[in-house]
Amino acid sequence: MQKTLNLIKQNINLVDCVVEILDARVALSSKNPLISDTIQNKSKVICFNKSDLADDKVNLIWKEYYKKQGIPFVLTDAQNGKNIKELTSTIKRTIDKSFEGKKRTNRRGRIMIVGIPNVGKSTLINRLVGKKACQVGNRPGVTKGKQWLRISNELELLDTPGVLWHKFDDEVTGTNLAITGAIKDEILDTSELALKLIEILQENYVEAFSDRYGVDLSGVTALEAMELVAKKRGFLASKGMIDYDRCSNVLLDEFRKGIITKASLELPSC
Ligand code: G4P
Repeated sequence: MQKTLNLIKQNINLVDCVVEILDARVALSSKNPLISDTIQNKSKVICFNKSDLADDKVNLIWKEYYKKQGIPFVLTDAQNGKNIKELTSTIKRTIDKSFEGKKRTNRRGRIMIVGIPNVGKSTLINRLVGKKACQVGNRPGVTKGKQWLRISNELELLDTPGVLWHKFDDEVTGTNLAITGAIKDEILDTSELALKLIEILQENYVEAFSDRYGVDLSGVTALEAMELVAKKRGFLASKGMIDYDRCSNVLLDEFRKGIITKASLELPSC
């Protein structure tokens, strides 16, 4: 990660704006605090990707939160190409604003995109650059091998490996990233993770769970709820024993695909 941070630091002065991609479902856990330190006062646009999988109400709470802070913010669904035009126009506006009162040459606005793995960075870049993807020439000072990709007549993207993992010490961050699929299941026990997921759904998404599995989450423990789901779905091993692994995998998979419900696990802290 230090290598990537250094690369971003080396190239930060070559761009006009940084686009930070977060996973709308886990907006706190998918934010690497080191990114803010690294990009410092550079103009920034926050992009909440995977907004199609997140809770619409919570998306709006975050929108209001960033509006109050005066930070440009866009909700996207890169998989379906939703709000990509809004993203490019927000980036353009942000760059124009950063040049207010300053001399500006007639060149395209330059951006860098950063985010932790699995937030949809590659998918979003493909959406932004599309089939037009082509290198627009090396620039002095850019690390050798780095490319500028043309987004439009007005914007170009510095193609850096802006993927940054962060070391997280708190369990909640790790759990939330694992539930949404950013961390591989093998690192964490699948059944424990599925039980945590049920506990989260018990707080805010009881109805959706009941609609999907026909199991009422109120008044039961997470383990009891899992056993009820397993029985309803026939996830049983030999001698009628509950197949916890299979049930856990299905619950996690269906949650990650948004089949159970659109859900957000994190709200602004203030
Ligand atoms: P990364 O570069 O940040 O690591 O993420 P990447 O674009 O590889 O996306 C990770 C996964 O998230 C991919 O699914 C991708 O299709 C999906 N994805 C990206 N953006 C969105 C979005 O806005 N909404 C939804 N619902 N999904 C999104 P995958 O299953 O790993 O790959 P694939 O089966 O789609 O090829």
